[in-house]
Amino acid sequence: MRWWDIDQVLELEKGLFPEDAWSRGMFWSELAHARGSEATRRYLVAESPEARIVGYAGLASAGELADVQTIAVAHDHQGTGLGARLLTELLRAATAFECHEVMLECRVDNVRAQKLYERFGFEPIGFRRGYYQPGNVDALVMRLTTAPDSGTAGGSSSEQGTEING
Ligand SMILES: CC(C)(COP(=O)(O)OP(=O)(O)OC[C@H]1O[C@@H](n2cnc3c(N)ncnc32)[C@H](O)[C@@H]1OP(=O)(O)O)[C@@H](O)C(=O)NCCC(=O)NCCS
Repeated sequence: MRWWDIDQVLELEKGLFPEDAWSRGMFWSELAHARGSEATRRYLVAESPEARIVGYAGLASAGELADVQTIAVAHDHQGTGLGARLLTELLRAATAFECHEVMLECRVDNVRAQKLYERFGFEPIGFRRGYYQPGNVDALVMRLTTAPDSGTAGGSSSEQGTEING
């Protein structure tokens, strides 16, 4: 993901996270840490053959710990394996950052996302009460402890024609 992708990403963001969409400033601030030798972030977009952004994802690293910051797929591309491909790329990035543990937060009512994470070996480890505001929805915290070669776990499905770019 580059700064010029943010307009399209924001459109998707508003539709996919209507209650707690990230602002433009949040994406800018994340991307500011995604370049150069000191980079701590990896942000990706998935583009359709017509160059429309149909998915995006981001990961932050801090020492040995990585955090899935966001992952989203356009409604008309969900269920095609794109979420799995994006997550596979994030886990590769975690390995490249030499992180041995990947954490994420997910709304307790987002069963679909939880199933995707479980397929990749994430395990629930606790809750954050009222993490999502203003709706006051709890977050399920999940963790994956990565083995040296686990960056591609569960990522076997692929969608023809969609390209993932950093
Ligand atoms: C969660 C999310 C990212 C998953 O993305 P996705 O592209 O739909 O995920 P996948 O296609 O990889 O996997 C989802 C399902 O499709 C199935 N699938 C995978 N490849 C497939 C293929 N080639 N054809 C048909 N189905 C397929 C998977 O088995 C999985 O099934 P299940 O979860 O119903 O058992 C997406 O639903 C989304 O953007 N949701 C809104 C935003 C959101 O909630 N983000 C997560 C915040 S924590």
